Amino acid sequence: MGSKFVIKGGNRLTGKVKIGGAKNSALKLMAASLLTEEPSTLTNVPLITDVRIMAAVLERLGAVVSYTDPDIIEIKFGNSLHAEAPYELVSQMRASIIVLGPLLARLGRARVAMPGGCNIGSRKIDMHIRGLEALGARIEVGQGFIEAVSEKLVGSKIALDYPSVGATENLLMAATLAKGVTVIDNVAREPEIVDLANFLNKMGAKIEGAGTPTMRIEGVGSLHGVEYSVMPDRIEAGTLLVAGAITGGDIVIEGAIPQHLDLAISKLKNTGAAVDISNKEIRIKGGSATKPIDIATLPYPGFPTDLQTQFMALLSIADGTSIITENIFENRFMFVNELNRMGSDVRTEGRHAIIKGIPKLLGTTVTAPDLRGGAALAVAGLAAEGVTEVLDIYHIDRGYQNFEHKLQALGADVERVGEKEPSNVLKVVGNR
Ligand code: EPZ
Repeated sequence: MGSKFVIKGGNRLTGKVKIGGAKNSALKLMAASLLTEEPSTLTNVPLITDVRIMAAVLERLGAVVSYTDPDIIEIKFGNSLHAEAPYELVSQMRASIIVLGPLLARLGRARVAMPGGCNIGSRKIDMHIRGLEALGARIEVGQGFIEAVSEKLVGSKIALDYPSVGATENLLMAATLAKGVTVIDNVAREPEIVDLANFLNKMGAKIEGAGTPTMRIEGVGSLHGVEYSVMPDRIEAGTLLVAGAITGGDIVIEGAIPQHLDLAISKLKNTGAAVDISNKEIRIKGGSATKPIDIATLPYPGFPTDLQTQFMALLSIADGTSIITENIFENRFMFVNELNRMGSDVRTEGRHAIIKGIPKLLGTTVTAPDLRGGAALAVAGLAAEGVTEVLDIYHIDRGYQNFEHKLQALGADVERVGEKEPSNVLKVVGNR
């Protein structure tokens, strides 16, 4: 049996905690280091399972990944670059698909196992494929693999059907070494896209428009290695803000970029919490009661789908009925059944969840269905009456470093019981 969190609810969280580097940027910057044979050093890297898996993928492709410090990794690809990302790694983390664009750009070929869906949805990659074909790649999808070849990628004008984060990133990285200019319309505008563009430009790429709906990339001959600090994790920050609100606490989140959470902060204020921001700190004081609100998840700068479950936990104890509409993933209400086992009154109808607030959640044993649903169950446990045990917390370890330690530092009564290390961590070869 894996580890679990044992949480005794009822403590008001107080104090200050610093958040770490963003999972959803670090993974892409690691993949982008494929684009040069020179070493790159990333700092402020979260030590989480997904980063270890990405390190294992890069090592399988021929990189040497060195952990020179707990949150610093150096990645060096010599000339011995392999083109295959195997199923046993890609199936552990679908974000591995993000090596497709860089491999094509650097090697002219790539063989990447189909990532498959995951608990929250089918996670298709049709826009990745079509965009790379527009850049001149020939791509075959079959027998569980994506085979891609291209003598030389050539810049092109591409319009995405939907501002897919992953498709934007794969195309952006491929275009940096393509011949000529690429213009991509309807791109994702998430802060992680801007972080990746800043990293690539520091490597010598010529990218304009990151954070806007259209990006222009002028291909260059080669890129060079850099040192770069990963942006702070806005979803970790948002998760901890909800923990402060749901416990009626008074906490300060250090190291976040408040602008990355504009809408989430506005929604927290609508529920009755008081939120004050300074340049790199966010303070939240939970209200005496939680007001019901409606939320619809949308691509950035819309409400982030990765905070949907955490807000549902908060709204489950609101003084009235809230509606959450999940527009990004087709199956991101997995955690509702677990939350209802804690006494909440949530019912789902397609993309809508109707949340009838109740006075108090009751502690019981629940199982984390996925990364953000697991984090939301832990947050719910902080406010529940009695003890909540959250099982399968390896899901949480994928995206949160020292989650229980950060909550303990804020006064939560939470213990990790079971293996001390996240259970499904790959022992990454290469230097430590
Ligand atoms: C990234 O996933 C994040 N993951 C997700 O975070 C996040 O929820 C998502 O962006 C949206 O913000 C990482 O960055 C590693 P998408 P990604 O491509 O790139 C459909 C977390 O909890 N789609 O914008 O997969 C797709 O099926 C994770 O940290 C296509 O149909 O997101 C999905 O329904 C969860 N065809 C929707 O678009 C495509 O070719 C959003 O996908 C690509 C996507």
